[in-house]
Amino acid sequence: MKTNRKEFIKASALIGLGALTFGVKAQGNPIIEIPEVTDNIKPVNGKFELPPLGYSYNNLEPFIDAVTMEIHYSKHHQAYVNKLNEAIAKEPSLANKSLEDLLLNLSKMPSTARSAIKNHGGGHWNHSFFWKSLKTGTSMGPKFEKLCNASFGNIETFTSTFEKVSMGVFGSGWTWLILQNGQLKIKTSPNQENPLMDAAAVPEMMPKVILGIDLWEHAYYLKHQNRRAEYLSSFWKVVNWNEIEALLP
Ligand SMILES: [Fe+2]
Repeated sequence: MKTNRKEFIKASALIGLGALTFGVKAQGNPIIEIPEVTDNIKPVNGKFELPPLGYSYNNLEPFIDAVTMEIHYSKHHQAYVNKLNEAIAKEPSLANKSLEDLLLNLSKMPSTARSAIKNHGGGHWNHSFFWKSLKTGTSMGPKFEKLCNASFGNIETFTSTFEKVSMGVFGSGWTWLILQNGQLKIKTSPNQENPLMDAAAVPEMMPKVILGIDLWEHAYYLKHQNRRAEYLSSFWKVVNWNEIEALLP
């Protein structure tokens, strides 16, 4: 197991945890397939950049309004990118590392930058993922339906559990749907934390993020005010099921 972990970390360093699937044999158990980490966000000329949104601010109307989208993307997300870059600039040892590499090994980051990576690096990754999770007019795909039924019993149980868990997140945070060891699971995280953080420490449990919802009030307050349940209900209307299907093995 130690050898495998060393090999995994070595591979991570070499490829920045890109698009590979790792096999790990955990203490005599059969090989466990570790799904690839979603995407690989790398700095360009030493700086992380705001990714293209991929659609216009009003594209998700009436479920998510254009003003919210514009402020969320161009102000909030941009601020996470800027503050992450400020922290990275002060730590030459972190130059050119992918965002996933920083997050997967968070506790090993220099203490001077760890908090910024957690808050602003997490913010950058979470929002970059979130924008791709949104699209109008898509339909649930067969791979998701099969896995969802196997993991939760049925689609209705999944959506109601996802909403209930999201309503229970106190203050700001996220709810995630992850794939781990072949099963879909619902997880939550406070602030800008996410399931990738320190996941490299237990590679056989490496999660693959499939879906996430931003539960910060800045994501919905202008339209839905304090009605998080209403926002959750709208969310299902703009989930990008095509993206989910593409992420699943
Ligand atoms: Fe946000």
